[in-house]
Amino acid sequence: MEREPSHLKQFIARWRPPIDAALEAGLDALPAAEETRRAMAHMLLAPGKRLRPILGLLAARAVDPEVELDRLVPVMAAIEAVHTFTLVHDDLPAMDDAPTRRGLPTLHILYDEATALLIGDAIFNLAFHLLAKALAELSRPDLAAPVLLRLTRATHLVVEGQLMDLALEGKPVGEKEVTRIHELKTASLFEATLAIGGLVGGGSEEQVEALARYGYELGLAFQARDDLLSVEGVEVVVGKPLASDRERLKPTLIKACGVERTRELAELHRREAVGALAGLPGPTEELCELARLAVERNR
Ligand code: IPE
Ligand code: IPE
Ligand code: MG
Ligand code: MG
Repeated sequence: MEREPSHLKQFIARWRPPIDAALEAGLDALPAAEETRRAMAHMLLAPGKRLRPILGLLAARAVDPEVELDRLVPVMAAIEAVHTFTLVHDDLPAMDDAPTRRGLPTLHILYDEATALLIGDAIFNLAFHLLAKALAELSRPDLAAPVLLRLTRATHLVVEGQLMDLALEGKPVGEKEVTRIHELKTASLFEATLAIGGLVGGGSEEQVEALARYGYELGLAFQARDDLLSVEGVEVVVGKPLASDRERLKPTLIKACGVERTRELAELHRREAVGALAGLPGPTEELCELARLAVERNR
């Protein structure tokens, strides 16, 4: 007998289509030439996991079980667009020089480097176009500033993390340094996503902070798993290069402290993440399950 899909799987199946539809609507709302739109859609609508928008929606529900998630989807799509632009730039030849992403050829392979750079810019701009519209349609205009402050701060921290990641390429690194990179390049956007979900869900300051804490810890667990996948993953499943010469130079937890300690760290951060959820008024079962998935995922 087939097992019924978990609540998290059901939630993802329910909300992924509207998230994709919001991203597509964003593309349609901009005066993009046909070829520009095609190039933007190539990465934006590619089969990524859409983890951040799903997390944002789960965060809103965790502070208000009755919240109308439909209205919040465009906010979360904006966060996905920020994430996608960071991936496009991360894959550029000047950065990780990655030929594949989300199981597809990257934009500099499909077009050229300058096009990839500009399409990254366009996707970043799309995020704020989506966000402006989404925030204007929320019933709480006072939330626009805190949402923007969280998102712009996090995006800046990603840049700091990426700079540090590049600066330490090929250098000996320790656990503390790599964890700092992970806080910046990965956990900051997860933290902001969860906080923004809590904010637009109408959560109290305390609830938003609890969600931010979960997001931060989840981000560290998620990135630890990413480092593990770089040695244990299957490239076609992960959908991005794992063992290229370039990737081998990267400052990872594996390099800093080995596979066993990385596994331990992922589990420690997962537990911290789940611990932060205690006391939230709405359902948190899916967030717990997602934390488990973050450390057990194969892609
Ligand atoms: C990739 O993020 C970048 C990291 C922070 C490791 P995801 O693994 O969420 O990528 P997509 O969105 O599913 O492609
Ligand atoms: C994470 O960096 C991506 C960003 C923060 C933009 P990595 O270079 O470690 O991630 P992957 O392996 O390319 O997804
Ligand atoms: Mg990188
Ligand atoms: Mg990379």
